[in-house]
This record gives sequence, C-alpha cells and structure tokens, in this order.
Amino acid sequence: MLESTPLQSTTLKGKTALITGSTSGIGLASAHVLAEQGINLVLHGLMSDDEGANLAQEFSEKYQIKTLFDNANLMDTSAISVFMDKATKTMGSIDILINNAGIQHTEAVDTFPESKWNAIIAINLTAAFHTTQHALSGMKANSWGRIVNIASVHGLVASKNKVAYCAAKHGIVGLTKVVALECAEHGITANAICPGWVDTPLINDQITEIANKESTSFEQAKYQLITAKQPVPDMMAPRQIGEFILFLCSDSARSITGSSLPMDGAWTAQ
Ligand SMILES: NC(=O)c1ccc[n+]([C@@H]2O[C@H](COP(=O)([O-])OP(=O)(O)OC[C@H]3O[C@@H](n4cnc5c(N)ncnc54)[C@H](O)[C@@H]3O)[C@@H](O)[C@H]2O)c1
Repeated sequence: MLESTPLQSTTLKGKTALITGSTSGIGLASAHVLAEQGINLVLHGLMSDDEGANLAQEFSEKYQIKTLFDNANLMDTSAISVFMDKATKTMGSIDILINNAGIQHTEAVDTFPESKWNAIIAINLTAAFHTTQHALSGMKANSWGRIVNIASVHGLVASKNKVAYCAAKHGIVGLTKVVALECAEHGITANAICPGWVDTPLINDQITEIANKESTSFEQAKYQLITAKQPVPDMMAPRQIGEFILFLCSDSARSITGSSLPMDGAWTAQ
C-alpha cells in the first residue's frame, strides 16, 4: 500500500507580499485577500503619497499587519530599482511577488500610437522583468518564493485592436515559464493567471466606447462586451483572482509552476 506523504505546512502569516498596482481593481482586492491571512503587504500604484499612506495605515489597522506604500512609476526602470530596494530593506524580504499593474489601449495596429505601445510594454511586461530580478535573490536565500504574474486571456489568444496588450501579455507568459524553469530547484514557483473579464476600472473605456457607438446604456454595453467572447456571461469579481493567488501561494500548489492558468469563463476553451 502506498503511504501518502503529509504536505509541508508553510505558514503564510508573517510573510511579505509585494503587489504592483494594488491601489485599484484586482491588485487592491488581492491585497485584502492576502492581508486576511496575516501576510504583510507592500502596496503600490499611482496614488499620491498621502493617499497611499492612508491606504497602508487602513490595512495595518484592519489586519494588524506591517505595510508599506510606494508610488513608483513602472515606466521608469530606475524608480523600480529604488522601490524594490526600499521594499526589501523595510520589510526584510519579498516572499510573494504579484506583478499585477497594467494598462490598456485599444486601436487598430495601423494607427496604434507608438507612445501607447511603449507604455503598455513597459508597464505590463518590462516592469515584471525588473521586479522579478530584484526579488529573486531574497527568495533564493530563503529557499521559498511565489511569483504570480497577472497576465490575461490575451496572453493565450488574441483580439483585434489590442496589439500592444496581446504582445505584452504573451510576453509575460514566456517570462513566467523561464523564471519557473530557473527557479525550479529553489522552492520558488512562478505562474501566470490569465483572466477573462474582471469588473475593474481598466475596462470602462471599452464599455463606454460600445455604449456610445450603439447608443445603449453602460450596463447593456457591458453585457455585450462580456458575451462577445466569453461563454460565461458574468464578469469575475476582482477578489476571485485574489483567492486564486492565495491558493498558488499555498503548499498544495507547490508543484504548479511555469503554468499559464486561464480563469476565463471558458473563453479559451473555444
Ligand atoms: N479587468 C480585466 O478584465 C482584466 C482581465 C485580464 C487581465 N487583467 C489584468 O489585471 C491587471 C490589473 O488590472 P485591473 O483590471 O485591476 O486594472 P485597474 O485599472 O483597476 O488597476 C491598475 C493598477 O495599475 C496601476 N498602474 C497603472 N499604470 C501604472 C504605472 N505607470 N506605474 C505604476 N502603477 C501603475 C494603477 O495605479 C492601478 O493600481 C492588469 O495587468 C490587467 O491587464 C485585467
């Protein structure tokens, strides 16, 4: 008879997670999910110092955890470096890295502005390369780490008018695989979550564009946007992504690495 080996029980309480783009949407909801487990947080996003300090204080008080806020612009690689050094020195180590910050611009490739291309590649892809580079030495020293990159279904399939977004998201899927291979013997996993539609401010411009074009309400335009590609006719709540991240941080998920995991209401099943 085969004996089952009990799973190690790594406690997540007291570990530190850094979540880029955690002032809004998926990042903010995920911050709450991790904080509920007693995980210390580096919060980050485009918010003033004062607003960020308030946000960090709210988290500290509500969850009794250590927090830090930074508003480094991810288009600036030297600002990323300063941010990561500060986060590591203040928190001790970055055990969990969530590369989540992202922007969108939709337009046909013929007229797609170079400035939007550069911004999307910088924020949605290159920033994750830099944060990962900075976080790895601490994770390797501790022989434990979790890297979760928030990609998209657009890391797996394409849609019209999303040339930079699809390029960046396919890129982050590739980055994730290489990091997983290089870290496989260090107790570090790297995975990409590939969501379909999630109810956040990121997609409001796309909904408004449909509403204006079709002279319809925001809610009707939203439904139209969802069902054009996604068989499940609901948007996900941002918190659902946070709960998936939490699972990927657990011991149960220690063999899941290098994976690009759709969470997409059967979008990519077609
Ligand atoms: N909402 C969706 O339907 C959906 C679907 C699939 C994937 N995603 C991905 O999820 C991630 C989070 O998106 P969201 O929907 O929560 O968006 P959001 O607009 O609610 O939040 C984006 C976050 O990124 C930060 N950010 C943007 N530009 C930045 C910059 N230059 N420097 C630093 N921070 C910056 C913002 O401050 C904010 O905190 C993105 O990578 C996005 O591509 C979203």
